[in-house]
Amino acid sequence: MNSLVVTIVLGTGLAFTAAFFGRSISSRLPGNQQGYEPVQPIAYSHRLHAGELQVGCLYCHFGAEKSRHAGIPPASVCMNCHQVIKASRGAIRAENEQAQRENRPARTVVSPELAKLHDAMTSHREARIDQKQPPEPLAWVAVHRLPDYVYFDHRPHVNAGVECRRCHGPVETMERVRQVEDLSMGWCVNCHREVNRTGVAGKAVEASIDCATCHY
Ligand code: HEC
Ligand code: HEC
Ligand code: HEC
Ligand code: HEC
Ligand code: HEC
Repeated sequence: MNSLVVTIVLGTGLAFTAAFFGRSISSRLPGNQQGYEPVQPIAYSHRLHAGELQVGCLYCHFGAEKSRHAGIPPASVCMNCHQVIKASRGAIRAENEQAQRENRPARTVVSPELAKLHDAMTSHREARIDQKQPPEPLAWVAVHRLPDYVYFDHRPHVNAGVECRRCHGPVETMERVRQVEDLSMGWCVNCHREVNRTGVAGKAVEASIDCATCHY
């Protein structure tokens, strides 16, 4: 590590101390969010989709292999299934049984949560026609968030064979996503030291612990 990097990193470190101080009134301090589990605009469940229905992580987070960010899927990915599926099997079965008891034709059941998804798609389409604007993404609330001065990239990790669950925990069991790890510098550096000793998925790796690897 050369002295220019040290100067930059330590210099910016000071600036960040000031920035942290200024932000300490906020309830979301960086590095202080282990267990953070925000409510989302649609009650989307990873337990159902990634667990029970076994949709692969990369079907929706297709960026993880190819880009820095894993990415949140656009509503159109959801519509691959929800164009047709408008309610849970349980809700449809309950309506069918009720209709049979009341001797009437069964009504179409639309889940209130999926109605939100359909509304979002429809209003986006109208907005696009009216104002020729690209559709606005659904306002999902970010769970994980590193400070801006840290460089993280999914690619080298996913391509080296580090599993999603090693950093995100058992997401396929979560009704709502929760931040499992503390995302601290110690967490990153300790793992880099560890994988350099143990390898990943039977292969040797070389994860750098130079300051400049993670700080611009
Ligand atoms: C059907 C699509 C879909 C599948 C499959 C899926 N996800 Fe997600 N994922 C989402 C959506 C939508 C969000 C944003 C809403 C939320 O946080 O629940 C999300 C959010 C996340 C987040 C939190 C992102 C943030 O804001 O920090 C993580 C981590 C995550 N997913 C990991 C996984 C893992 C690991 C798997 C596989 C076990 C997986 N996902 C499978 C759609 C999916
Ligand atoms: C080495 C640890 C690590 C691994 C492995 C990992 N992630 Fe992440 N993930 C993170 C960190 C750290 C963040 C926060 C990044 C930021 O704030 O810039 C994150 C953020 C995310 C987000 C939020 C949006 C984004 O793209 O930044 C999603 C979604 C996500 N990860 C999904 C996945 C999925 C799916 C996998 C497996 C294919 C995976 N991650 C593997 C550490 C990891
Ligand atoms: C591979 C197909 C598939 C994809 C892709 C998919 N879903 Fe689903 N989803 C289903 C199925 C099947 C059900 C109903 C499961 C049941 O019968 O309980 C469901 C149920 C739901 C429910 C619960 C409805 C209720 O009232 O019980 C919500 C909310 C939901 N999905 C949201 C989403 C969102 C948001 C996305 C995109 C990020 C998405 N889904 C992507 C197949 C999918
Ligand atoms: C579960 C262990 C693990 C954790 C946790 C982890 N990394 Fe890594 N990291 C790796 C592995 C494995 C590689 C790939 C090394 C290789 O390709 O030989 C890597 C590579 C990288 C690279 C690419 C440069 C290089 O040395 O190859 C960067 C940048 C990086 N990690 C940043 C981070 C940051 C920032 C964090 C914390 C937010 C983090 N990592 C957390 C295991 C981890
Ligand atoms: C593998 C990734 C990684 C490496 C290597 C790394 N850092 Fe960090 N560093 C981080 C992450 C992630 C944070 C933010 C974590 C937090 O907020 O707790 C951070 C935060 C910091 C901060 C500000 C937070 C504080 O504690 O005041 C400074 C200063 C810093 N690092 C300096 C360094 C120096 C100097 C080196 C080299 C000796 C280094 N870092 C190497 C990942 C890394």
